[in-house]
Amino acid sequence: MTDGVSGRTASYGDTVLLVSKDRKSYVRTLSPGGDLTTHLGTIRFDDLCGQPYGSAIRTHLDHLFYLLIPQVTDLIAHARHETAIMQPKDLGYVALKLGVRPGAQVIEAGTGSGALTLTLAMLVGDQGHVYSYERKAALQDVAARNLKRAGVAHRVSFHARDIAEGLEQAGVDALFLDVPNPWDYLVQARAALSGGAAFGAIVPTINQLIQLVDAMYTGPWFMIEVEELLLRAYKLTQVRIRPDDQMVGHTGFLVFARAVNRSASRSGEAEPGQP
Ligand SMILES: C[S@@+](CC[C@H](N)C(=O)[O-])C[C@H]1O[C@@H](n2cnc3c(N)ncnc32)[C@H](O)[C@@H]1O
Repeated sequence: MTDGVSGRTASYGDTVLLVSKDRKSYVRTLSPGGDLTTHLGTIRFDDLCGQPYGSAIRTHLDHLFYLLIPQVTDLIAHARHETAIMQPKDLGYVALKLGVRPGAQVIEAGTGSGALTLTLAMLVGDQGHVYSYERKAALQDVAARNLKRAGVAHRVSFHARDIAEGLEQAGVDALFLDVPNPWDYLVQARAALSGGAAFGAIVPTINQLIQLVDAMYTGPWFMIEVEELLLRAYKLTQVRIRPDDQMVGHTGFLVFARAVNRSASRSGEAEPGQP
């Protein structure tokens, strides 16, 4: 009889999440002879192999940890960050709004620390692909390491270049810009997208937002939307459940649109992007 623990067991090469009773978490890839040393003692990886995920584990000092499969959010939280990264609340919504699904071909720029790259790579599956552009080549090494740990590096091609020089792909299903001046690359973005495909961007300030939306109004963009997500976590004890006193008040403004072909306008009829 099982106690609800899934049948999957940990083995060498797995990237696992180890969480202590006081909720300190560690993401590690299991290697023979390896270990995790924490303030609560040491866990030997050889002892984890063969254990079902969900198992309670004891350190050599007899402190309790749980052996878990990391979610994308855990991999992002524990990845090396060399730039500001997109937050999970935005990542999931962006992927939905862009229509990212198994088999999709998606372009993003810039790669940064690869938080969006990882999210997209998890969602496009082995039939899809992510093309990630970044002008600082060294950053893509960090992103590539994070993807490798998640086992999805083969789903991503990196281009170390400034997107002002153009994008190599055409006819892609979705494109996302997380660069300071996305309005400068709308021509390149439209050229890479297939007709009707989804465009998205994130900008942190209202000044950038106005500049981007103004540029889109005059271009081949339809259904322009601006959105912002607020997420409030809750403090949780058995007898007292209430919102946290503090929250992340702002990450960025999300802009979405569909790439369209401009028609010859009739008098009195608005061009695609116009409100
Ligand atoms: C905020 S970071 C992107 C973070 C990333 N989306 C993530 O979630 O980890 C912005 C990145 O865009 C890159 N960048 C800025 N302008 C660029 C351009 N014109 N072409 C390519 N990369 C660019 C920067 O070097 C930086 O690494």
